[in-house]
Amino acid sequence: MSHIRGRFSKPADNLAAKYTASLPFDRRLYPYDIAGSIAHAKMLAKQNIITEDEAKTIIDGLKAILGEIEQGTFEFKAEFEDIHMAIESRLIENVGEVGRKLHTARSRNDQVALDTRLFVTEAIADTIKALRSFQRALLDLAEANKDVILPGYTHLQVAQPVLLAHHFLAYFEMLERDIARFSDCFKRVDVLPLGSGALAGVAYDIDRDFVAQELGFSQVSRNSLDAVADRDFVLEYEADAALCMMHLSRLAQELTLWSSAEFGFIELDDAFTTGSSIMPQKKNPDVAELARGKTGRVYGHLMALLTTMKGLPLAYNSDMQEDKEGLFDTVDTLLNTLGVFTGMLSTIKVKGEKMRLAAERGYILATDLADYLVKKGETFRAAHEIVAKLVNSAAKKGKTFAELNVKEYQKFSTLFGKDVYEITVETSLAARDVIGGTAPKRVKQALIKARKMVGRG
Ligand code: ARG
Repeated sequence: MSHIRGRFSKPADNLAAKYTASLPFDRRLYPYDIAGSIAHAKMLAKQNIITEDEAKTIIDGLKAILGEIEQGTFEFKAEFEDIHMAIESRLIENVGEVGRKLHTARSRNDQVALDTRLFVTEAIADTIKALRSFQRALLDLAEANKDVILPGYTHLQVAQPVLLAHHFLAYFEMLERDIARFSDCFKRVDVLPLGSGALAGVAYDIDRDFVAQELGFSQVSRNSLDAVADRDFVLEYEADAALCMMHLSRLAQELTLWSSAEFGFIELDDAFTTGSSIMPQKKNPDVAELARGKTGRVYGHLMALLTTMKGLPLAYNSDMQEDKEGLFDTVDTLLNTLGVFTGMLSTIKVKGEKMRLAAERGYILATDLADYLVKKGETFRAAHEIVAKLVNSAAKKGKTFAELNVKEYQKFSTLFGKDVYEITVETSLAARDVIGGTAPKRVKQALIKARKMVGRG
């Protein structure tokens, strides 16, 4: 009698029972299910719907079940459809008939909405904490290498020099927005659905504000149909997670490139790489690659649930049970990725000289030469064209800017003088002295500000 069969004359088909069961995965909702039931039982007694004695028996019984589950002695019997039925049946088994009163003024529809909201609440807190730790690791790395110069790229072509710290601070900003998104999501998760019943509310004089307070919700849902039918709070977490994984995946891609022999900008610690079973020279950036790879499944869970929800009439439909595995996997994948990335970042070896050498290559100071001509009276567009021609001619001769003599410069513009040799990677950086720019003094301020935001942990 584990699946609810009151109306039915036959037991469910074995395969069908297995097909419809959620216990194998929703069992991890047990702490929220029990907390919700305890708050509900307290409220039922306070409202004289059950007696204080009955409530005490039920609450003690629920606490005992929590103990059983935590000690591993609770049997998650396959015959139970879901975690709600498994716990309630065990309660009745342990405390007798009075256990049957717990489900008064409640439905599994508002119960599962409650459990899932409590789960997401905790997931958001864990996610924000993990994001903060990761931001600290990024900052540590930026501060430890605050003078290192990196070739900045656009189109993966050498563009202009930037400080490595500036580059890491770019990710810091992305993660800051991720944190803001998760915090904002919490506002909409923080709503008690219990008391909505199956769909229409319940026919008892319940006290929803009391339950909300017991469970730490700051609001109570305003519409019973919406409260049991909506999963947009799950989707929102998943959407925020998808964006966050996208950010991590871009960093993963850069670390993968940078650790290659072709770039040689960083060395990943042995603890975060693996060897090849056939090519002894290899040190593969597996952690970074898998973070990039796992981004796909997180996007997938978001698309899956959006698709599941799109055609559903109000209110609850069993389709919605499909929300859980994707949600759980999203939370696990994101937290694991943040955890392992934090470790990986704190052990990265930055090869500053290699970055610096690369920053000297590829006519990286071309924009600065154009700016130089503008400051001497040329228009920017004309200056751009002059320097483009200069680059072509230098490339043909196989020379760098520094290797050209003044006459070679002056062939393209008479505005060029000896002071053109004063343009260096350092002057290029220092010139970007605007809010948000890579000038060392701006980056120094940005590092201080960022550290104030996240502390030392
Ligand atoms: N296992 C179900 C779920 O995860 C619980 C709610 C079931 N409600 C129902 N009326 N079948 O969504």
